[in-house]
Amino acid sequence: MRVLFLFSFALGLGCAATRTQDERSSKPLHTIPVVFAEGFWFGNFTAGDANDLSLLIDTGSSDVYVNPDLYKPSSESQTLNQTVSMSFITTKPDGCGEMILKSNVVTDKLAVSSLTATNQSIGTVVKVPQPNPDTITQFPGQGIVGLLGTSADDSSVGGTPFFQHLCDEGQVDECRFGLGLETSGTGSLTLGGVDRTLFSGAMATAPISGQQWIIEGGLPSDMLDVGVQQSMFLDSGTSNIIGNHTMVKALFDKLGFQSFTRDAIGCDGTLFGYYPCDSPPHIGFQIGNSTQTFFIEPEAFKMEDNGNNNCTATITGGNIGAGGWLVGQSWFQGKYIDFDVTGNQIGVANLH
Ligand SMILES: *[C@@H]1O[C@H](CO)[C@@H](O)[C@H](O)[C@H]1NC(C)=O
Ligand SMILES: *[C@@H]1O[C@H](CO)[C@@H](O)[C@H](O)[C@H]1NC(C)=O
Ligand SMILES: *[C@@H]1O[C@H](CO)[C@@H](O)[C@H](O)[C@H]1NC(C)=O
Ligand SMILES: *[C@@H]1O[C@H](CO)[C@@H](O)[C@H](O)[C@H]1NC(C)=O
Ligand SMILES: *[C@@H]1O[C@H](CO)[C@@H](O)[C@H](O)[C@H]1NC(C)=O
Ligand SMILES: *[C@@H]1O[C@H](CO)[C@@H](O)[C@H](O)[C@H]1NC(C)=O
Repeated sequence: MRVLFLFSFALGLGCAATRTQDERSSKPLHTIPVVFAEGFWFGNFTAGDANDLSLLIDTGSSDVYVNPDLYKPSSESQTLNQTVSMSFITTKPDGCGEMILKSNVVTDKLAVSSLTATNQSIGTVVKVPQPNPDTITQFPGQGIVGLLGTSADDSSVGGTPFFQHLCDEGQVDECRFGLGLETSGTGSLTLGGVDRTLFSGAMATAPISGQQWIIEGGLPSDMLDVGVQQSMFLDSGTSNIIGNHTMVKALFDKLGFQSFTRDAIGCDGTLFGYYPCDSPPHIGFQIGNSTQTFFIEPEAFKMEDNGNNNCTATITGGNIGAGGWLVGQSWFQGKYIDFDVTGNQIGVANLH
């Protein structure tokens, strides 16, 4: 999900294998299952003494939040006198929707697999009424874990973001994580390295341009005159793929899609495209200098089935501020995506 604005008010398998001299001792990879539900991917985490919280895995934001009444403080819990109000966009499966969030901040342990970040800042969401049906006031599932950002400056609740925290505490071997999301609705989140069992061969890579998790990339150059080399923000917490209106209109026209602009909360003037469900197009993105196209899987291209062989495309045209492409989970499906903090790059390979 993308943070729109915020106000912050101040008030395991522990076998370290010994290897040859020039290699570091290695900690095992930590892989947890993730599941798909209503446009987003979830994995189980423990916040304080609350076990098996199903948190949305989000590479587009930096903080950990737990929905109302679910957090159970452990003996390490500390309440900070801080209330945070925030707004998120792209909260619905069609890339629309908005979220208004009010939360209190605690520090406590946050654990996943056998990894534990101590003194992690956690926002405990406060129950407030929905102002309208398209504006949510708590997260889908039971909360969210943001995997973006390297320092407390990236956080809205203070404190180091969770994954960086694990890296800083030396809990993971390599400071990188990966998502392997299948088209079947199951997948994995790997922490501390690359799970090379999930794909063959080399990954295509692209350096981070400026800020996590933004890289250069776009549609293949033979696809369109516009939209070719652009920035791509890889956001697992956005369900669809959003490009600027001009670019997406040109793409829909080229593909022969019917398209209409619609207004909705969180996405005024968004362009939606319609295609015959039984013949999804074969299109995708290239990253960095790689000439390999990573296609949107046919199953993932469908955002909505409107009946009569009429489907809404996962790509929409909108005003997303940053320019370039906001690339959500529908593109991730069928791929292994390596988020390499140390190497400051993204890697992509097709899953087996
Ligand atoms: C999360 O935990 C619940 C309860 O133990 C379990 O039923 C569910 O399968 C787990 N989900 C994942 C993605 O591991
Ligand atoms: C939080 O506020 C309460 C009441 O004003 C105060 O007693 C407490 O010491 C504060 N805690 C911290 C950590 O500042
Ligand atoms: C715990 O985190 C808070 C917020 O980031 C920080 O102010 C505090 O110094 C930390 N405490 C310890 C013991 O590391
Ligand atoms: C949309 O992208 C195209 C292609 O890069 C660019 O020429 C155009 O200025 C962009 N439009 C907006 C409104 O950002
Ligand atoms: C991509 O190509 C450009 C131009 O040839 C070059 O400057 C850049 O270093 C290359 N980037 C990578 C990651 O190979
Ligand atoms: C496809 O569905 C959309 C949304 O319901 C509708 O506006 C459009 O007219 C339909 N197109 C066709 C060709 O039926």
